[in-house]
Amino acid sequence: MSVALAHPNIALIKYWGNRDNDLRLPVNGSISINLDGLFTRTSVSFGNAKSDSLTINGSEVGGKGLARVSHILNLVREMAQMNEHAIVTSENNFPSGAGIASSASAFAALALAASNAAGLSLTQPELSRLARRGSGSASRSIPGGFVEWQMGKDETDSFAFSIADATHWDLRDCIAIVSASHKKTGSTEGHAIAGTSPLQLARVADAPRRLTLCRRAVLEKDFNALANIMEHDSDTMHAVMMTSSPALHYWQAASVTVMESVRAWRAQGMPVAYTVDAGPNVHVLCPFAVQKEAQARLQNLPGVENVLVAGVGGPARLVESISSR
Ligand code: PMV
Repeated sequence: MSVALAHPNIALIKYWGNRDNDLRLPVNGSISINLDGLFTRTSVSFGNAKSDSLTINGSEVGGKGLARVSHILNLVREMAQMNEHAIVTSENNFPSGAGIASSASAFAALALAASNAAGLSLTQPELSRLARRGSGSASRSIPGGFVEWQMGKDETDSFAFSIADATHWDLRDCIAIVSASHKKTGSTEGHAIAGTSPLQLARVADAPRRLTLCRRAVLEKDFNALANIMEHDSDTMHAVMMTSSPALHYWQAASVTVMESVRAWRAQGMPVAYTVDAGPNVHVLCPFAVQKEAQARLQNLPGVENVLVAGVGGPARLVESISSR
């Protein structure tokens, strides 16, 4: 049995749309940070069971959820040339439906635990590629700290790597929860319709510029430059979402209140910046020094239910490994 732990991540430069939905090859590269303190812990053991089984947070999961996990297990079985089925048990230490995508940490932990349990010893790029097949953003939860997922030329070089480790810059993500309900349209369906927006081509064409600016801001620890490019990137992604067919509106009134407040606070000199994924909750980044103040201000905004705080997290890692082969 192997047990692995992986953090979710938040993208500073995001991807929305795949050029190959099956292989989950993105239309552009992306940059993210892993979220420390939040994690998925997954155990995998191969044996004589008749089929794969999956338990998430104590409840047995079948249907599409299990099929997605079996897809990764099939890739592992193929690589290890084995055919035993697996018992997969997974737990998140963060509330499900809190607006933090658990698929990134879940598929990163699964890729590591399953490959190790099968006796494989994959390199970090190989693990990142495997995790990508379950959920694109999971490729970014394999390396630690500040991470870039290069779009790559094909399946073989579309993986993520660290551009700076977790200790490089002490940023905090204050996640303003405005709604804990599940998202209306999941990212897999969203990626598939991104190309129906007339804005998508322009957003994709401009991605190399945004990636360069973000990479530089991270390496130089230039918060103001990071704030400008990450907010712009989030806004253009939501513009694509809102103008696709069918239209996807993820923002709620309270999300807009948080974004407007963050912009106003920054204009007054406070280093804070927002980014929003495929849901209504707003991730507010800031340096450690202003975390308490940012958290208190966010908590006082109308419509904000709760504020979760995470630092910059490390790579996916094995926490226990008892090889059965
Ligand atoms: O990799 P997925 O299918 O979970 O999609 C992630 C999409 C966004 O979170 C909106 C953007 C991103 O790059 O993480």
